[in-house]
Amino acid sequence: MNVKSIMVIGAGQMGSGIAQVCAQAGYSVLLNDLKAEFVERGLGVIKKNLSRQVEKERMTAEEMETVFGNVTASTDLQDAKNVDLIIEAAVENKEIKTKIFSQLDEIAPEHAILASNTSSLPITEIAAATNRPEKVIGMHFMNPVPVMKLVEIIRGLATADEVYQTIEDITKTLKKVPVEVNDFPGFVSNRVLMPMINEAVYTLYEGVASKEAIDEVMKLGMNHPMGPLTLADFIGLDTCLYIMETLHEGFGDDKYRPCPLLRKYVKAGWLGKKTGRGFYVYE
Ligand code: CAA
Repeated sequence: MNVKSIMVIGAGQMGSGIAQVCAQAGYSVLLNDLKAEFVERGLGVIKKNLSRQVEKERMTAEEMETVFGNVTASTDLQDAKNVDLIIEAAVENKEIKTKIFSQLDEIAPEHAILASNTSSLPITEIAAATNRPEKVIGMHFMNPVPVMKLVEIIRGLATADEVYQTIEDITKTLKKVPVEVNDFPGFVSNRVLMPMINEAVYTLYEGVASKEAIDEVMKLGMNHPMGPLTLADFIGLDTCLYIMETLHEGFGDDKYRPCPLLRKYVKAGWLGKKTGRGFYVYE
């Protein structure tokens, strides 16, 4: 299938990154969010990232203009009627995502593929909210999207082979590495990563070590680029909690029980870097 135009739903840290890499690969991109100010903020992040590439002489100012020109702002879901692929990167919440997918199913052209950047929710269930489950697929990018090479591609129960193939090919055009996984809670990435983060929070909760010590052990001892508590702040503690709850509910095994300290931080509104405070304080 020939994909030329892509709509990205959600202009937050994931959506803006996805829009950027799609625009850099030459696709015509619509960046959509509920409010114009959210889209403006996303466009601002893209501009800042591209400007850094120009400063580092990896891109000319003209190339930057071309890439930036590939992105158009949208606050109307009806704009989906003219695109070939939609990548949804809205908030990680099943009710919100299924509602968006059932609306997109009504609006998008028949040939359009509906992909979700969900980090843990069942693709099969999201697909069931549409009349085209064979064209629904998971396309899970990692944060920060412009830097991270992986895209987990998740087949729902009904995903068609040609849809999988198209998404795999597109991922390669974005200069990313596709990895195929099946539809189980947390897929591979978050099934392995989140219990590690949750265990780091338990380690803090139980007073085994200070937050700095826990992060230092994992950074220097395991060669991780960031310690798990720093990484949790970077991902967002609300997202970490939501994913742990999805694993706990999906597998019914207490080994996925979210740490009470993680719940407490989320209740306090200490969501990490984005709110200025999580395990650490950010100026
Ligand atoms: N957007 C774009 N580019 C960014 C960026 C951002 N938000 N943050 C950093 N970069 C770029 C920098 O510009 C820099 O580029 P150059 O090398 O071209 O100059 C490069 O990344 C390295 O940045 P820094 O030198 O500032 O810092 P660093 O070496 O510590 O790297 C990092 C930063 C890439 C984020 C690194 O710390 C890292 O890999 N951290 C772990 C990230 C990770 O695990 N991500 C997965 C999260 S889980 C997830 O996404 C799945 C989910 O569902 C929750």
